Amino acid sequence: MIKAVSYCGGVAGQTVANPSEPPVNRSEDNVSVEGSTPEAALPEIDTSKPHPARMYDYYLGGKNHFAADRETAEMGLATWRAGRVAARENRAFLGRAVRFLVAEAGITQFLDIGTGLPTTNNVHEVAQAIAPSARVVYADNDPLVLAHARALLTSSPEGRTAYIQADLRDPQSILSDPSVREVLDFSQPIALMLVAVLHFVPDEFKPAQIMATLLDALPPGSYLVASHITGEHDPVGPATGARAYRAAGLPAQLRDADQFAELAFPGLDLVPPGVTLVSEWRPQGSGPRPTPAEVSWYGGVAQVPRRRVLRPRLVGALGILRVAVRMDSLWWNWY
Ligand SMILES: C[S@@+](CC[C@H](N)C(=O)[O-])C[C@H]1O[C@@H](n2cnc3c(N)ncnc32)[C@H](O)[C@@H]1O
Repeated sequence: MIKAVSYCGGVAGQTVANPSEPPVNRSEDNVSVEGSTPEAALPEIDTSKPHPARMYDYYLGGKNHFAADRETAEMGLATWRAGRVAARENRAFLGRAVRFLVAEAGITQFLDIGTGLPTTNNVHEVAQAIAPSARVVYADNDPLVLAHARALLTSSPEGRTAYIQADLRDPQSILSDPSVREVLDFSQPIALMLVAVLHFVPDEFKPAQIMATLLDALPPGSYLVASHITGEHDPVGPATGARAYRAAGLPAQLRDADQFAELAFPGLDLVPPGVTLVSEWRPQGSGPRPTPAEVSWYGGVAQVPRRRVLRPRLVGALGILRVAVRMDSLWWNWY
């Protein structure tokens, strides 16, 4: 069944989208929403199929999910009993990473792909609490996130926020989006956020190419924050969850620490402690932390070097050029 958004849920005290105000292309002083045509009053939401944003909202204890989302989420939780703990740990990692970037690395621009439904500590809230002039562009491919995007767009007067509906698997369309270009200054460092989204891009979608396109577009000194579910510490729970996603038609792939690091951070300088369980990335407080099996989620933050190393693709192209030049000169010697 396809239906338009027709409810207004609330998450953790946040104001969420009012269905009587359609999320069409809207631009105010320092917020903008893009991704729906003016004639399409509300985005169409297929409630019969689960979607990662709504399932994640379910794990986090939000209210923006439908029966299909809950059913698939429960299939995963049946074996990965700590799935909710893991989701909370991932969300806390996101907050700590943004705080680090603003307070310690001086970053004030963010491109957050795979935003999720608005919840507590959205990127702009964390960033603007430290640097009110921070600018954030959110991007997600779930129309329900678009419907709720207003809650992501409560920018401080000094800052800017924007939301675009876009797919990580088409990175060029994100990079060339007018809102992205308008809100973010690509001559200054930007933090690319790929938190809990790369496991929705299995190898058949060529995620390494997607990463190369995104990382090549980042100015030197930029950062990448990424996190990824793994089966390394619990061979049953996360794998069963991933199977439930795939059975429901959602692409999903687990990766171990090396595969994740190689995919997300090639040629980047990892910020200590490097790729680690999200719960171990600069944890705060001295309270007990969940076990590796419960968390089963890697995260890391890395910086794009100020001097870029030539990527293999570029090196390969230069090699072909050199061979072509040599063959050309040989040809001239023969005649
Ligand atoms: C698990 S949530 C993560 C939300 C937030 N980044 C966090 O970590 O708290 C994953 C989000 O990625 C989005 N997503 C999944 N595949 C995507 C894709 N191909 N392009 C854009 N967004 C995608 C989902 O809609 C969902 O909102």
